Amino acid sequence: MAALAIDNISKTFDIDGRSVTALDSVSLDLAPGEFGALIGPSGCGKSTLLRMVADIVSPTSGHISVAGEAPRKARLAHHIGFVFQDATLLPWRTVSENIRLPLEVVGGRRAVDPAAIQALVELVGLAGFEHARPSQLSGGMQQRCAIARALVTSPQMLLLDEPFGALDEIMRFRMNLELLRIWAESRTTALMVTHSIEEAVLMADRIFVMAARPGRIVDEIKVDLPRPRRLSQIGEPDFVALVERARKSLFGDMVEMLQDA
Ligand SMILES: Nc1ncnc2c1ncn2[C@@H]1O[C@H](COP(=O)(O)OP(=O)(O)OP(=O)(O)O)[C@@H](O)[C@H]1O
Ligand SMILES: [Mg+2]
Repeated sequence: MAALAIDNISKTFDIDGRSVTALDSVSLDLAPGEFGALIGPSGCGKSTLLRMVADIVSPTSGHISVAGEAPRKARLAHHIGFVFQDATLLPWRTVSENIRLPLEVVGGRRAVDPAAIQALVELVGLAGFEHARPSQLSGGMQQRCAIARALVTSPQMLLLDEPFGALDEIMRFRMNLELLRIWAESRTTALMVTHSIEEAVLMADRIFVMAARPGRIVDEIKVDLPRPRRLSQIGEPDFVALVERARKSLFGDMVEMLQDA
């Protein structure tokens, strides 16, 4: 069974009495444990697609299932973890208190196993900062805390919406490798939105390329580079060829236009 099945999803929004098609007939499947990346221009519906999988927004038509369950059921069973572009941590809570929040929401304080929280703190490299507040952490540390919070319910599906968009390039690549390690250890299925083609190639098993107006998937690129991935792969010919391929399908004729200019 697919870990994620998105079948012919369309979404229209009403903006000032005008109907805007945010997504048009989008389909994609992920196998259990697979890492998918979504790339595409601003406004093509990447966040909307993730929000529909997470049951934050409902589709106008089409069908989504997460490990065979409807998004509502998967959300209520805490099978979905969501990492937003900003870490969205609660400033008055410490690192540990932020990470365990989803468990408290489900079952109260008694539902929380301190040893499991500590294991997560260590998994994301925040040992020693358990009692720090978000304002005392760097941006990357806050994002790692948000990733731990998304993993605390052991979700089968991890959704990441440009989780490292606010970080500099070196920090982002470091976080990429850390996320890959966490993903491999937790054996979750992942779908990540990114603006960076290199990031998509470095992380994903498959890249879904989207176009805007209306938002749709225009290409699917299989990334069959060996794992575990390493930063040194970035300069290798196979990697560069995949980046070029993705760039072409993202920018189309614009690539040639820019080369001619
Ligand atoms: N709640 C909403 N109400 C009305 N329109 C919306 C809403 N959310 C998204 N849209 C519209 O849907 C389209 C897709 O938006 P979305 O945020 O999914 O794009 P995106 O691909 O994530 O863009 P970006 O890369 O800039 O984050 C846009 O045209 C946007 O105006
Ligand atoms: Mg977005």
